[in-house]
Order: sequence, then structure tokens, then C-alpha cells
Amino acid sequence: VLDQLSDLAGDGIRIHRAAVITDANVGPLYASRATRALRPLDPVVITIPAGEASKTRETWARVTDELLKHGFGRDGAIVALGGGVVGDLAGFVAATYMRGIPVIQVPTTLVAMIDAAIGGKTGVDAPAGKNLVGSFHAPALVAIDPELLSTLPERELRCGLAEAIKHGAIADEAYFHRIAERAAALSNPANAKSPDMYDLVAGSVAIKAGVVNEDARELGRRKILNFGHTLGHAIESASGYALGHGEAIAIGMVLEARLGERLGVTEKGTENAITKALTAARLAIATEFDTRDIIARTHSDKKKTAGRVEYSIPAAIGRYEKWAVAVADSYVLSILQA
Ligand SMILES: NC(=O)c1ccc[n+]([C@@H]2O[C@H](COP(=O)([O-])OP(=O)(O)OC[C@H]3O[C@@H](n4cnc5c(N)ncnc54)[C@H](O)[C@@H]3O)[C@@H](O)[C@H]2O)c1
Ligand SMILES: [Zn+2]
Repeated sequence: VLDQLSDLAGDGIRIHRAAVITDANVGPLYASRATRALRPLDPVVITIPAGEASKTRETWARVTDELLKHGFGRDGAIVALGGGVVGDLAGFVAATYMRGIPVIQVPTTLVAMIDAAIGGKTGVDAPAGKNLVGSFHAPALVAIDPELLSTLPERELRCGLAEAIKHGAIADEAYFHRIAERAAALSNPANAKSPDMYDLVAGSVAIKAGVVNEDARELGRRKILNFGHTLGHAIESASGYALGHGEAIAIGMVLEARLGERLGVTEKGTENAITKALTAARLAIATEFDTRDIIARTHSDKKKTAGRVEYSIPAAIGRYEKWAVAVADSYVLSILQA
């Protein structure tokens, strides 16, 4: 797919130039292949430092200024070549550059392939929190080449697997069990070219795209993608980001499934099935934390109704009855303390 970018980009998108935005890890691996493929579009390459610390308004300004310096116009498109950091940042540059130009997402991490590149959310972090400044800007094209995962560090791959397990848990029982059975092999980057990896990427993309197409602005069904994320985000930030996002939401899913079972929202055995799948992927299912600190952190999340924090918990593996439930802190605290 990477080598066919220009053909793919020419299909239905009228653009005359391309700017490849990438990071310092991905650029040396794949930028030359991307620019070779994009040669008819006279591509420029803009490289940002790798890592979440780059997802800021300062980087947004620097990249935007560089595009202006290159005389980039409204007939150009941004090609986001990288993980979710590049995808979110480059997508936000595209959303705002001259009031919006197309973005082509070329995700290179599993997280970006099955999550960040799908659904049109773009943005940057602020000192007050992650993803607080941004815009919905649907990509003109998402070009996914699972082979690029062969160079990804294993820990990053496992973070993506946590999201894939979530996709199964919220929307597709058969997919959930397929991923759970193959989790050990799927967490090895050497298997990037396997049919099972293709099945995982295609399966998760179908689930996420299906949910997002029905509810782009998260008024209802899209909330189910937040399973594991209310507690997961709190655990992630409480760890000072020592835990990766996927590692934190793995633990969040276990705790929220337990919460669902206690509330009578979730069928018994759901927590156990999720635990087994995560363990097969060698993801930790518990960590140490200060319970009251976690509760406090759930309140800084965007998901709230009338002061109560919202949780989006499936009724059973692959099935929902309510998109979200508001739960009293005291109840959540009792689960965390247990
Ligand atoms: N927009 C959305 O809907 C959405 C959804 C999920 C996550 N996100 C965002 O995505 C970000 C996380 O994305 P991520 O997990 O991809 O992290 P990332 O972009 O930081 O990539 C992880 C690391 O892997 C490296 N890397 C990327 N591809 C590689 C490859 N093929 N080979 C070798 N190394 C490679 C990167 O340089 C980086 O060091 C967060 O900022 C999060 O907020 C957004
Ligand atoms: Zn997530």
C-alpha cells in the first residue's frame, strides 16, 4: 500500500502537491518509500520529534509555518505517516491549514491503524490535559499497510492489541474469541505479514468505522468505544504515563467489567473472559494505585453527566444495552478498594 500511495491518492481526491509529516523514528524507515510513491505530487517531508511531547500547539505552529514557507496551497494534501501522535497532529494541521485541506492517513502503529486514523478526531495536547484542542477532520483516505508493523516495538504492538480486544468486547463476540486465541502470535512484530494480523487490522477497522459512521460526534453509540477508558485514562495519568495507553485501558477494561457485573449491567463471566484475552496478549491486568486519586482523576475526563462520571460497559462480550451509565463515586470506590 505504501508504494501505491500516489495511485490511491489520485483516486477521487484532486490534489497537486503532498506534504509528508512524519516523526524521527518512522521517517528514516519509511519516508523515502512514501516520497518515491508520491513523486508525481512533488512531496516535501516535515519531520517532528517522536513521542507524545510533540503533540502540541507549538509543533502545530512550526509545521504550519513550514508549509507556508514551502508555498503550500489549497491544492495540497497532508500525508500523515506515523503513529497516532503524527496522525493527530498532522490531521489537525490539515484541518486548519487555509481553513482545511485533505489529510491522507498512513498509520504505522497498530494503535493508529485500528484507532487513531479512523474516525476523524484530530488535535493536540495542552498543559491542562491531553487532546484538549482539536477538530473533527475526516481523512480523505486511510492507507493501511500492516507490513509496516514489522519494525514496531513489541510493547507498542501490545498496546494496539488491547484496543483490538476492546473492539471485540464491545461489538463482535466471534472476533473477540479469534483475537484472544491468537493473542500470543499477534503480539509479535515478526508476524506483521501474517493473515491473522491482516484479519485483526481489517476486523478492528470494520468495527471502529462502523461505530463511527453511525455516530460521528459521539452523541450515542460512539460512546461504546470508551469502554475501559474512564478508569483507564485515570490510571494512565496517575502512573505519570509510565503505563502506555493500551496497558492502562487493559486494566481499565477489567475493572469496568467488574463494575458492570456488580451493577447488574454486565453478564457474569465477562470480566473473566476479558482477563483471559489480555493475559494471552501478555498485558498486565492489575497495577497499584491510590484509589481516591483515581476517583478524583475520573472527574477531569470529558465524559460526565450532572456531576456523575459516565462509564460505557458492555452487557456481555460483543453486546451493549446502554451506551453509557452514570455511576456514583462511592460505588466505583468500593470496586477499586476491593
Ligand atoms: N484520534 C483518535 O481517535 C485517537 C485514537 C487513539 C489514540 N490517539 C492518539 O494517538 C497517540 C498514540 O499513538 P501511538 O500509540 O501510535 O503512539 P506514537 O505515535 O507515539 O507511536 C509510538 C512509537 O512508535 C514509533 N513508531 C511508529 N510506527 C513505527 C513503526 N512502524 N516502526 C517502528 N517504530 C514506529 C513512534 O515513533 C513512537 O516512538 C496518542 O496521542 C493518542 O491520543 C488518537
Ligand atoms: Zn484508547
